[in-house]
Amino acid sequence: MPDPVQIFFDSVLPNKLPRPESYEAYSPSNIALAKYWGKRDQTLNLPLNSSLSISLGHLGSKTHVSSATDGVDGVWFDGDKLPNQSRFAQKVLAFADLFRRGQNLPLHIVTKNTIPTASGLASSASGFAALTRAISGAFKLALSDAQLSMISRFGSGSASRSIWHGFVCWDRGVRDDGTDCVARQLPHHWPGFRIAVIPVDTDLKSVPSSDGMRHTVATSPLFEAWPEHAEADCIRVEAAVLARDFTVLGETVEANALAMHATMLASRPVLNYLQPASWTCLETIWNARKAGIEAYATMDAGANIKVLFLETNRTQIETLFPQGLIIDPFADHTQECEFSK
Ligand code: DP6
Repeated sequence: MPDPVQIFFDSVLPNKLPRPESYEAYSPSNIALAKYWGKRDQTLNLPLNSSLSISLGHLGSKTHVSSATDGVDGVWFDGDKLPNQSRFAQKVLAFADLFRRGQNLPLHIVTKNTIPTASGLASSASGFAALTRAISGAFKLALSDAQLSMISRFGSGSASRSIWHGFVCWDRGVRDDGTDCVARQLPHHWPGFRIAVIPVDTDLKSVPSSDGMRHTVATSPLFEAWPEHAEADCIRVEAAVLARDFTVLGETVEANALAMHATMLASRPVLNYLQPASWTCLETIWNARKAGIEAYATMDAGANIKVLFLETNRTQIETLFPQGLIIDPFADHTQECEFSK
């Protein structure tokens, strides 16, 4: 039985890679507004439903890839050389192996996050997207953004959306080989759109997303309803972005996140990422809405809360959440996006 992953990489890469050049790339982190939770194919990492995200501008990962002059693979993260047996280095090198396919091309891979560690925003999404861009650049591969996005998916599903800035939709596709499962950037800027990240717990998440998804799909009696609702939410969020309808967008985003967490909570045994302080933030947002302040929440596989609001409500949000990190996703981020050799 041919390996579908090998088939995919053989279809987009040349048989023989050249000696790598030094190359650096940046990719932004992203927050899903309509969530991806559940896979239709574990091997090809294909999602059960489409998802839509907003990239976080200058908050992301910068990765430098070069030929290992000492002939041995090496991985550095935020200034530290990691043991090659560490979980992080193993994931990074296994990903590089998908490109190398047995060829002896040792690499030095240096990654830095531009995300404050205390924000709890660090994710594999920007890391794998930047790694994909950096490896492709180092091997001088002429790949389209859509191909880079498809490759990033093999590192982490959400990384497929971090190839672009702004709003990005990752279409689930229907084909078994995943050739129609690809992300795309929505050509819509929304200059007043803001996100406040409220840190609740900035430690590494207890249950990695992949494991959490598998457990939810296998045991939650509510999961049956998720893919159809999630797909409808994704379509609704995209329409709200196009129409610049913040109310529809916010209501859908918050309901989508709560439905995902409700589905996780119904798993057996329970899968809970939220903490009492997360619920306190949610109450604050719900009360603010009753008082006429348009703010909506979303949460991923962790306890931190992200608040969506418009610049016109900035002062109120800063008062409610003085600890929040405010992100302007459409600010000029050309500096971080430059790809240098
Ligand atoms: C809750 O992309 O981390 O953030 O594909 O298994 O690596 P894998 O999962 P990952 O899952 C992200 C889950 C989420 C929702 C989202 O980003 O869409």
